[in-house]
Amino acid sequence: MEPGKKTEPNKRLTILGATGSIGQNCLNVVSRLPQHFSVAALSTHTQVEKLLGDTAKFKPRMVAITGTEPDAEQRQQLKAHGVEIFCGPSALTDLAEHSDYDLLVNAIVGAAGFVPTYRALKRGRDVALANKETLVIGGAHIMAEAEKQQAAILPVDSEHSAIFQCLFGEEPKSVEQLILTASGGPFRQTRAEQFSKITVEQALKHPNWSMGKKISIDSATMMNKGLEIIEARWLFKIAADRIKVVIHPQSIIHSMVLFCDGSIKAQMGLPDMRIPIQLALGFPQRLPATFSRLDVASLQELTFEEPDRRKFPCLDLAYKAVARAGNAPAVLNGANEAAVDLFLNRKINFDQIPVLIDKALKTIDYHAGPGIDDLLQSDKAARRLVCQAVS
Ligand SMILES: NC(=O)c1ccc[n+]([C@@H]2O[C@H](COP(=O)([O-])OP(=O)(O)OC[C@H]3O[C@@H](n4cnc5c(N)ncnc54)[C@H](OP(=O)(O)O)[C@@H]3O)[C@@H](O)[C@H]2O)c1
Repeated sequence: MEPGKKTEPNKRLTILGATGSIGQNCLNVVSRLPQHFSVAALSTHTQVEKLLGDTAKFKPRMVAITGTEPDAEQRQQLKAHGVEIFCGPSALTDLAEHSDYDLLVNAIVGAAGFVPTYRALKRGRDVALANKETLVIGGAHIMAEAEKQQAAILPVDSEHSAIFQCLFGEEPKSVEQLILTASGGPFRQTRAEQFSKITVEQALKHPNWSMGKKISIDSATMMNKGLEIIEARWLFKIAADRIKVVIHPQSIIHSMVLFCDGSIKAQMGLPDMRIPIQLALGFPQRLPATFSRLDVASLQELTFEEPDRRKFPCLDLAYKAVARAGNAPAVLNGANEAAVDLFLNRKINFDQIPVLIDKALKTIDYHAGPGIDDLLQSDKAARRLVCQAVS
């Protein structure tokens, strides 16, 4: 170190969903920047062996295992690393409330991410948020708590990270529109009549990104973009009718902002989730990285088109839910999770997913100003309705 040069403090991370796609990319970033980041706690739902490997490497003090019980040997190995083990449904909130961290990385998939985010914010901790379902379910409560505790919510989703970056140095009142880009998923060019025959394997094959199963199906139905509209509405405090979606199949421009003078800023880069993850972890610093560079001169073409809203009704369902507000987005999210699960288990056809979500939105009781418990109840009711509609 040069004399007189200050070192940055090491940020301690609690990573929920460490064994998933985002969680593993996050650990990759940590392993490249050990002088900046260390791991306080990790969680997995079911992949205990993977968690064991990461425990040996990153030396967390606490781990949570939520979807299974570790066997005696696994417990022994974790104990040998001096790790405190939390299991069961409250394990994630235990980590959010008791582990010794500066930044919570929420890389869990689904509604299970909502309460831990809320608890971390309540404790005054910053959150790097990949779990978009958190803001879809309870954006009003989450943003209010962040504001109250002066805690930051740092976007991990590449689209929201792009918008976040486009807004650096800009005044909120100069923003006219947010433009979320979408790859269009694997069925952009598939005819609507073929949607009922789409297989799980086809739907999991995203053209540009390698991701977990649930978000891959959400990308195929375009509900992922619907959830992102709701996420952006809260993160950037903007009405959803000022958030536009545009199809950009190359996934090079990650999103854009249109300003009041007609200027548009876009953020570009290779589709590599480590870039937005590292920005969220290091913020307010932009730390150097050796990830592959986008060679702009080699780009053949960047194309854009309107989404086909007839073929992808999930987009309009999300716009409707966010316009209705109250518990409607929580119902949309719960119904979507249940329907995606049924599709992945080959119990329904691909084109039934939006039909079931629509049914849940039309059937579940509406609450205009739901509390946290009401939102969790709405989530459960939507799941129940979808499962009953099928059985
Ligand atoms: N993947 C991406 O490129 C990407 C991009 C932008 C945003 N996101 C968002 O980031 C989140 C994570 O996505 P992902 O692709 O990383 O998902 P993933 O690969 O399926 O990983 C999900 C993680 O959450 C854990 N988990 C699953 N169900 C759980 C439950 N009920 N309770 C507690 N933990 C649970 C999993 O544990 P196991 O490993 O044991 O199953 C795993 O660690 C999602 O909200 C997604 O929309 C992802």
